[in-house]
Amino acid sequence: MIAAERTTDDSSLVELRIGAVAHGGHCVARHEGRVVFVRHALPGELVRARLAPGAASDRFWRADAVEVIEPSLDRVEPRCALSGPGGCGGCDWQHASVGGARRLKADVVREQLVRLGRVDLAAVPGLADLAVEAVPGDTDGLAWRTRMRFGVDAEGRAGLRRHRSHDLVPVPHCPIAHPGAEALGVGTRPWRDVTALDVVSASSGERLVIAQPVLGGRVSPPPLAAEAAFAVRGESGLKRLRGRTWVTEEVAYRLPSGTVRRTFRVTGAGFWQVHPGAAEALTGAVLDGAEPAPGERALDLYSGVGLFTAGLALRVGAEGAVLGVESDAHAAADARRSLHDLPQAELLTGRVERVLSGLLDGPSPLRPDVVVLDPPRAGAGRAVMTALLRALPRVVVYVACDPASLARDVAIASGVGYRLASVRAFDLFPMTQHVECVAVLVPGDPS
Ligand SMILES: C[S@@+](CC[C@H](N)C(=O)[O-])C[C@H]1O[C@@H](n2cnc3c(N)ncnc32)[C@H](O)[C@@H]1O
Repeated sequence: MIAAERTTDDSSLVELRIGAVAHGGHCVARHEGRVVFVRHALPGELVRARLAPGAASDRFWRADAVEVIEPSLDRVEPRCALSGPGGCGGCDWQHASVGGARRLKADVVREQLVRLGRVDLAAVPGLADLAVEAVPGDTDGLAWRTRMRFGVDAEGRAGLRRHRSHDLVPVPHCPIAHPGAEALGVGTRPWRDVTALDVVSASSGERLVIAQPVLGGRVSPPPLAAEAAFAVRGESGLKRLRGRTWVTEEVAYRLPSGTVRRTFRVTGAGFWQVHPGAAEALTGAVLDGAEPAPGERALDLYSGVGLFTAGLALRVGAEGAVLGVESDAHAAADARRSLHDLPQAELLTGRVERVLSGLLDGPSPLRPDVVVLDPPRAGAGRAVMTALLRALPRVVVYVACDPASLARDVAIASGVGYRLASVRAFDLFPMTQHVECVAVLVPGDPS
């Protein structure tokens, strides 16, 4: 019998038969008629799990599998000793084979699109047997993370948070960190007067470490195990202590006329696709989905430093036009600098929800043929989706890091006459629950 208010003593250990995977990096089980979300388990397994503290009145409970009685065929030995029950929360599927984890992610994408997006599986080609695609260069799901954010504990050790906790687990080595980041040894040296650290390892080979000092603290550039620029985050922005406050990222665009290589400036810990194979894989999927033609007009919402803006500009050519909209002033400035040789590309600094209606419904409204949007995790939402679809674009390509937000926005789109024509999913964050989708929406009934 579970006490009304549970603690973490042995009375909270229960045997659970694990059901389907659920969005969020856990699987569903039932206990005493209640749903339990179980971490570190896999569908079909029988496990002994520790229930997290909670109340009898809670709608659902959470648990962590501490012993596997009947393992799944997809279970493997975690590749990181720090992962697992109570350990580092950075990874969710270390205990699953890479292929098994991709199948779980595909299940989540499908389930969210059907349940929240009200999508008919049979009406979207390829969705019923969706496969999450590995990006080029990824074989074992390790050594990919080019951006890391560490907290620093009271003893000066850099670490990552436990799942659903502010507690830090010291992480001297991280097997999913990119070798360029790992080589700096940020997790193996003590940090004084620092509360957090951003580590950036760019495709150009440049590396940058940004320290967040404690209030009033003074940080000097530490010796690192490899060469890196070093900056501190102050009240008035980034202060350079060694080298530059930005890195260069390199991308190859595969165009009908051949491959074009471009470089981007990314200031500080500003947004850039984290997996080294992600920028090219996503750009290819976006351009394949949008098929921008010479002379067309395109809108790139949440455009960051201009990764998709540049690809769209190259495809629509000098007779076409692309407008990128980005709220972060540093990212928009980086984009202007990186795209200065593409006069058909224009960058607007502003929040999409504030500027979109003015652009599409104003006195000289923009009539985009193509809209690309890549919103943060919360998605675009009703106001943005309905405003952009009122402009009747030929095609909308939606890049989503959260399948639940994508599904909600797909449901909004279908309410105003756009249907999901295709979806691809990419394993940009192996070992974690995260999955990136590229969905194509076109006018028409979802039949
Ligand atoms: C997922 S990133 C995508 C960036 C870019 N598409 C890329 O792939 O490099 C989302 C971007 O949206 C920006 N952003 C977040 N909220 C925004 C808003 N309300 N309006 C405009 N941009 C926003 C962030 O600063 C970030 O650069």
